[in-house]
Amino acid sequence: MEKWMGGDMHPSYRILMGPGPSNVHYRVYQAMSNPVIGYLDPQILACMDEISEMLRGVFQTKNQVTLALSATGSAGMETAYVNFVEPGDVVVIGVNGFFADRMTQVASRSGAKVIRVEEEWGKIIEPEKMIKALKEHPEAKICGMVHGETSTGVRQPLDEIGAYCKGKDMLLVVDAVTTLGGYEVKVDEWGIDVCYSSSQKCLGVPPGLSPITVSSKAMEVLRSRKIPVQSFYLDLILLEKYWGTERVYHHTAPASMFYALREGLKIIFEEGLEERFRRHRTLGDRLKMEMEGLGFKLFAQEGYRLPMLTSVILPDGMDDVKLRSKLLNEYNIEVGGGLGFLKGKVWRVGLMGETCKLRYIHCLMGALGDILT
Ligand SMILES: Cc1ncc(COP(=O)(O)O)c(C=O)c1O
Repeated sequence: MEKWMGGDMHPSYRILMGPGPSNVHYRVYQAMSNPVIGYLDPQILACMDEISEMLRGVFQTKNQVTLALSATGSAGMETAYVNFVEPGDVVVIGVNGFFADRMTQVASRSGAKVIRVEEEWGKIIEPEKMIKALKEHPEAKICGMVHGETSTGVRQPLDEIGAYCKGKDMLLVVDAVTTLGGYEVKVDEWGIDVCYSSSQKCLGVPPGLSPITVSSKAMEVLRSRKIPVQSFYLDLILLEKYWGTERVYHHTAPASMFYALREGLKIIFEEGLEERFRRHRTLGDRLKMEMEGLGFKLFAQEGYRLPMLTSVILPDGMDDVKLRSKLLNEYNIEVGGGLGFLKGKVWRVGLMGETCKLRYIHCLMGALGDILT
């Protein structure tokens, strides 16, 4: 064995104010230290039932098929397209950021013919513009949108687009990776058919699970596929047989992660959804005000700024990498840099779940105050 291998690891306790992961509540860590049990043990099945029920609560849905994929948020995106696209299907996607662009790549790799509805990064896609594109493509099987675009800090309004898709032979797929647990995601009311998220942002759980909910309309589309879903691991019909009443083995349940998600969801309902959204809104506003006070300009369109992810333009002459390294190494604070063409130009400051606390805003402001003076 090499000399450097096998020593103890002591990762620092960072204040995770980037675009995710966020800090994890000690109760979630405690839950993870429970014994691992088998994938068909009645106790793990009961834990999964509780997760489904609590996820229905945060997704604000009655969808029977509501579960957690054993993989990160990207698996949610893959699942949405690999299950519902058959070769040649037309998919219309609103593209105003890095993750929406990734969605077009995932859809295209699943065999879709992708129509991009483009908007400048930092702006919403006006619902009328999106609906116009959908009217021009009545053959479209899916409309894909990102609710919280983590690359820009923009919150996309979805209700009008959902209302348009509701009465059509069209599925609305929504990425709620950043928003779920920190902002309203009204799956049933907004007419969303497939909505996925991830465990490590506003749900306050380590990365590794991707909650997803699927409408009965979407499940009918899935059952009428001409060819089987290419991915065995992400096949929702097989996953439903494991998570639903049949309990057919599909993959080995990551028991420790399920304990973590169950605890994270319990913490959310102890706080209450409305109170949690209010906390994210109030502290998101506070952070924006403080950052502006330090000379940063807000990047995202006014009126549509995400509470849990604030994107700011760096003042002239500020060295992105040097400053973020200093914050990390000397103050244990992580903030995110820009993605794509925003690299070196913007910061993405997260206030997600457990990290969304006034004391962490004070820590960041104190650190930046020290460094900048
Ligand atoms: C909006 C959005 N979608 C998808 C993803 C991918 O999720 P993950 O990194 O958990 O695979 C992210 C990750 O930050 C994201 O912010």
